[in-house]
Amino acid sequence: MSMRRDLLNRLARGLPTSSTAAFAAEVRRLRATGADVINLAAGEVDFDTPEVISQAAVDAIRRGATRYAPVAGITELRQAIAERQGVTFGVPRSAAEIVVTNGAKQALANAFAVLLEPGDEVVVPAPYWTSFPHMITMAGGVPVVCPTGPNTGFKLTPELVESLLTTRTRALLVNNPVNPTGVVYTAAELAALAEVALRHDLTVICDEVYAGLVYEGADSVSMASLGSEIRQQTVTVSGFSKTHAMTGWRIGYAAAPIEVARAMSAWQGHTTSAASTISQHAALAALRDEPHELLAGRLAELDSRRRLLCAEIDATDGLVLAVRPQGTYFAFVGLDGIVPTARSCGSPGTAEETGQDAASFAHSLLQEAHVAMMPTSDFGAPHHLRVSYTVPKARITEGMGRVQAFLSR
Ligand SMILES: Cc1ncc(COP(=O)(O)O)c(C=O)c1O
Repeated sequence: MSMRRDLLNRLARGLPTSSTAAFAAEVRRLRATGADVINLAAGEVDFDTPEVISQAAVDAIRRGATRYAPVAGITELRQAIAERQGVTFGVPRSAAEIVVTNGAKQALANAFAVLLEPGDEVVVPAPYWTSFPHMITMAGGVPVVCPTGPNTGFKLTPELVESLLTTRTRALLVNNPVNPTGVVYTAAELAALAEVALRHDLTVICDEVYAGLVYEGADSVSMASLGSEIRQQTVTVSGFSKTHAMTGWRIGYAAAPIEVARAMSAWQGHTTSAASTISQHAALAALRDEPHELLAGRLAELDSRRRLLCAEIDATDGLVLAVRPQGTYFAFVGLDGIVPTARSCGSPGTAEETGQDAASFAHSLLQEAHVAMMPTSDFGAPHHLRVSYTVPKARITEGMGRVQAFLSR
């Protein structure tokens, strides 16, 4: 018999399934046995999509707005996004520079697809959102992980970036506010990174999907607001999932220099076409019609959950806030005396040396105490957990009580 070829190509063979999805499946399996699991591992809030947004989708269906939309998005939505970029974030963009996508995820994937030549390097700060390196690899690029740690508040600095530059470096990825740390960059810090990008002619892909969720007076500064030069070199990625409680609607966008926007649209035209027409009408209502008080109310609730969770963590022997979160809905937590807390993330090593990593701790915590906290091994941080404050305060308190009981056994 002749040798059969591999069914899958090299890239697909090397592509792991998402660890966050696997952990979520473990939570579901446990729940299916009747266990009351407190889920502090989610990547989405428990709020329902606001009624005014859902109603706009129903209206769109009823009036027959159910056909293909223009590939880059319906004109009104692109205009509304461009306006929002200008008014809220100080980024002057025209509608032609906006591409509406199937979630922020597709905007990122398409950006890498149109920007990278095979072998091009992209600097990715660790800890990173788990999909970034895979997306870069899938687009033919090479993710170059930049370790960060407590000494820089888990933030990229110009020196860290410059230490990794080679002749193949093509782009710099910035996620602000950061998943999984909750860290928010200041304008000065971003300006310093912009300066490096300009000096070395790097395109900046800036994932600002959590830009609407900042607390403690932190400012959501957009990289592209820092001047026309950097704007011409920046692809801003954002979306409606996080700020408007719309994860299932799958609407994101890129705001990019016009030739990048055109290429992303062409790419999308030959792959998925436009994002759901119905969801686009919902997203338009989110920008146009959602009362500001609703958004402010969700933010205030998240902020009070954040303060509660941080206080609970501070009061728990064994758990330490690696850094104080000022944005997103995540806290980044080390396991003091249980799993050695790494000096920095993104450098391989000590988990194997000690035998215990945060993933095995999270697994035991889930199975024995029925509390889910996301291990961040696939976020370039094998010694930490990402703890979400996406559940009501009473559940946070109960969950942290269980964690304390688990730790003191
Ligand atoms: C940093 C970051 N970027 C992008 C996304 C994807 O967002 P969307 O639901 O709009 O695809 C997520 C979702 O978890 C995220 O955490």
